Amino acid sequence: MQETQVAGDVHTAVKGPGKHFYIESYGCAMNFSDSEIIGSIMTDNGYTHTNDEFAADVVFLNTCAIRDNAEQTIRHRLMHLRNNKRKNSGLIIGVLGCMAERLKTKLLEEEKLVDVVAGPDAYRDLPKLVAEVEDGNKAINVLLSREETYAEISPLRLNTNGVSAFISIMRGCDNMCSFCVVPFTRGRERSRDPESILNEARILSQSGYKEITLLGQNVDSYLWFGGGPKIDFKNATEEQKANAITFDKLLEMVALVDPQMRIRFSTSHPKDISDAVLHTIVKYENICNYIHLPAQSGNSRILEAMNRTYTREWYLDKVNRIREIIPGCGISCDIISGFCSETEEEHRDTLSLMEISRFDFSYMYKYSERPGTLAQKKMTDDVPEEVKSRRLSEIILLQNRLSLENNRQYIGKVVRVLADNLSKKSDKDLSGRNDQNVKVVFPKETFSIGDFVDVLIERVTTTTLIGKAIK
Ligand code: 5AD
Ligand code: SF4
Repeated sequence: MQETQVAGDVHTAVKGPGKHFYIESYGCAMNFSDSEIIGSIMTDNGYTHTNDEFAADVVFLNTCAIRDNAEQTIRHRLMHLRNNKRKNSGLIIGVLGCMAERLKTKLLEEEKLVDVVAGPDAYRDLPKLVAEVEDGNKAINVLLSREETYAEISPLRLNTNGVSAFISIMRGCDNMCSFCVVPFTRGRERSRDPESILNEARILSQSGYKEITLLGQNVDSYLWFGGGPKIDFKNATEEQKANAITFDKLLEMVALVDPQMRIRFSTSHPKDISDAVLHTIVKYENICNYIHLPAQSGNSRILEAMNRTYTREWYLDKVNRIREIIPGCGISCDIISGFCSETEEEHRDTLSLMEISRFDFSYMYKYSERPGTLAQKKMTDDVPEEVKSRRLSEIILLQNRLSLENNRQYIGKVVRVLADNLSKKSDKDLSGRNDQNVKVVFPKETFSIGDFVDVLIERVTTTTLIGKAIK
């Protein structure tokens, strides 16, 4: 898994001053957050960020490998960039992130699509890798780390609305869900020093940000013992346990930084989200009543094959527990259709789990076999493509109905919205999200992006609540 190669001698000389870099992000929020860390590393080394790819000396694609279609989109983009390079031979193209980690030398040596390859734990090396290319070499670092959290790096906020920002609190994933490539592309799970997280939250608050989202592949297993090697909580001494910072404690510490700043977090694994986290959400007004709780499937046999480590009943109990402790909590879900050997009846279990859980919204996917995963090695991707598609359509249709029904309950009610953008349809309207993370659109009038506004909901669609501000 671990590999590092830098063609030619390693150069420490930095050639950045005066040069511009452009970065495009694909995939999950974690990647968008990583791009801001990359931005910071590059600017610290004398490069200037540009939003114009044609003004850039270095173009980075920060990539996603989670499904085959994500990789295909990036591959097309890389081919397009290679054509641009014909007109601008000095252009340096770098592929970063999960696809870089998964394919290692392939895009560089076999396909000759890029000049730089850097995996998710190699971003500190980027200025050096770019300098290598300027010297006429190709450069790659796909070494995964057990420690790297980029803790002290203050992200360069890219394309920001000045209102919402991500803070990465951990990296990697140890869960080994059988369908998922992430543990292979992002390496072992590690938590970031809480002081550096709080510092980042304070800086965001002082800079006028109104909402932060704590990010990790599995935030509920955040665990900090005060540095040093990772200890399994079960094996820790009583003293270590008493002093450990678990996710509920971190959440509380972040909530206290600025009571006017909204706190969100993602993603929660159902097996790890604790009552302590739920009670912390209730305790602090500024922690949003919203949990992204991927189920993946509603059938216990499939969940076992997916190595999710919970059953259908266990998941449903967790949803009940959330609703019991946090009445009105928004819950969203990730669902995969057509996982290996899934029968029609097992698919219907997924539909019924959705119906019972009444998710506010879901991210829904067809199973895509990923090389190197447990499912690819041990199981057969045997659900025909048209069956996967039909099941996915049924899942989407049901979610649309559930979202519409949930949204209708808001009609006639007042919700508090953080305006974070102009509406896509009209610049006379503002758009934002309520506590439960549902999108709300309302006339701008005298309000501005960054305002908290109480909005009376008048009508709804499957995705949006529409209303007007009450003064
Ligand atoms: N095929 C389809 N969807 C996948 N996901 C992860 N791996 C795969 C795969 N191989 C989905 C899961 C996860 C989300 C981020 O992506 O639902 O929660
Ligand atoms: Fe992938 Fe599972 Fe880890 Fe999420 S929890 S990143 S689905 S292995």
